[in-house]
Amino acid sequence: MSAPKKLFIKTYGCQMNVYDSERMAEALGGEGYVETKSADDADMILLNTCHIREKAAEKVYSELGRFKGLKAEKPDLKIGVAGCVAQAEGEEIMRRQPLVDLVVGPQSYHRLPEMEAKAREGEKVLDTDFPEEDKFEKLKNRPKAKRGPAAFLTVQEGCDKFCAFCVVPYTRGAEVSRPADRILREAQDLVERGVREITLLGQNVNAYHGAGPNGDLTLAQLIWELDKIDGLERIRFTTSHPNDMQDDLIEAHGTCAKLMPYLHLPVQAGSDKILKRMNRSHTAESYIRLIERIRAARPDILISGDFIVGFPEETEEDFQATMDLVAEVKYGTAYSFKYSTRPGTPAAERPQVDPAAADDRLQRLQALLTKQQREVQDSMVGREVGVLFEKAGRLPGQMVGKSDYLHAVHVAECNRQVGDLARVRIVSSGANSLAGELIG
Ligand code: SAH
Ligand code: SF4
Ligand code: F3S
Repeated sequence: MSAPKKLFIKTYGCQMNVYDSERMAEALGGEGYVETKSADDADMILLNTCHIREKAAEKVYSELGRFKGLKAEKPDLKIGVAGCVAQAEGEEIMRRQPLVDLVVGPQSYHRLPEMEAKAREGEKVLDTDFPEEDKFEKLKNRPKAKRGPAAFLTVQEGCDKFCAFCVVPYTRGAEVSRPADRILREAQDLVERGVREITLLGQNVNAYHGAGPNGDLTLAQLIWELDKIDGLERIRFTTSHPNDMQDDLIEAHGTCAKLMPYLHLPVQAGSDKILKRMNRSHTAESYIRLIERIRAARPDILISGDFIVGFPEETEEDFQATMDLVAEVKYGTAYSFKYSTRPGTPAAERPQVDPAAADDRLQRLQALLTKQQREVQDSMVGREVGVLFEKAGRLPGQMVGKSDYLHAVHVAECNRQVGDLARVRIVSSGANSLAGELIG
């Protein structure tokens, strides 16, 4: 038998890309590939890319440039680009970077095995189709290997919201939900391989409406089905849109013990004028009322958000409205970005904000968000939380896991294993993590 070929995958962007990379590795696993952590000994390099901001997209070209020497040394090395940059700029990548052998979009990577075979024969292959067939059903090479205790599971793909700044509806296509039985089968399989926590993924996950035995299921109904799986202890989901936050999902946060008290609910901005121009179809007020309802159902829930500053025509007054909204909501975690012009999106054509003003606003927003995150993290001290251990810590006897609220927690003198779920009392709060001790 010949030695296995080595695959190096580098993943950029969101969790959906992390999930896709796992599935690509599995698909190529069926062709005799094993993963390697170093590009230097790879027979195939795959960059799974993100197109959300200009910097993310440009990174791909500089990364590819770095493989020039490697490719010269190893002419059999195959280099592929997958993900959202592949989808958006496939032909341009082939033109700009001749060392690329293969370009595959996010909806057609189940065809990677055939594409790899063609690339091995010296062909340049590009596939950025949105095929009719279900890629997840075609990905049948899934090995039954044991895996870590926390896993992602994509349940919904694409987006029909068309926020004026965003490339996702173009790179990932229309919003589609996977049928419930396939998701449940995959979840069961993950649990049999050691998974205790599943994060359901979708660009617009709370718009989920996959087919069930008696009609479509809402995300909350899907969560209740997953709740029945023995051995699955924790359920999370991301990313949600405020307008799709249905009553049954809010209620589930109060009643489903496996559903964790953490909700990523991006608002993007606090000015109604800007929200309207972003095509967000919610107001600052409706968002705040929504958060109140969620907190009424689950008072301790940790709220996470995404923000864009410097969106076209944002004034200082508009920005202040964002700061006011943040002050009112109090976020436990948040991601904030300077607006990045994306060709082909509606906002790209509009008058842009002075970059220095946008930088300044980003700094002020991040200072406020960091302060809030720290306060929320510090408020955990003295509390009892669940912790799912994910790995051994750096110190002997120490274990590291995630709390119900998704904080990293270090526990010293810990006699638990990876995959164990324990009750932990938080004793101190550090720069990026908490320290705790086992209860009982
Ligand atoms: N589906 C999610 C998030 C998609 S992208 C949602 O509906 O919110 C992740 C985040 O990237 C977005 O929430 C937004 O804050 C940011 N983002 C998207 N396009 C951007 C752009 N052109 N410039 C800066 N940030 C952007
Ligand atoms: Fe992009 Fe999210 Fe808006 Fe969809 S809802 S267009 S993914 S920001
Ligand atoms: Fe990036 Fe595509 Fe995800 S653009 S954020 S990798 S959906």
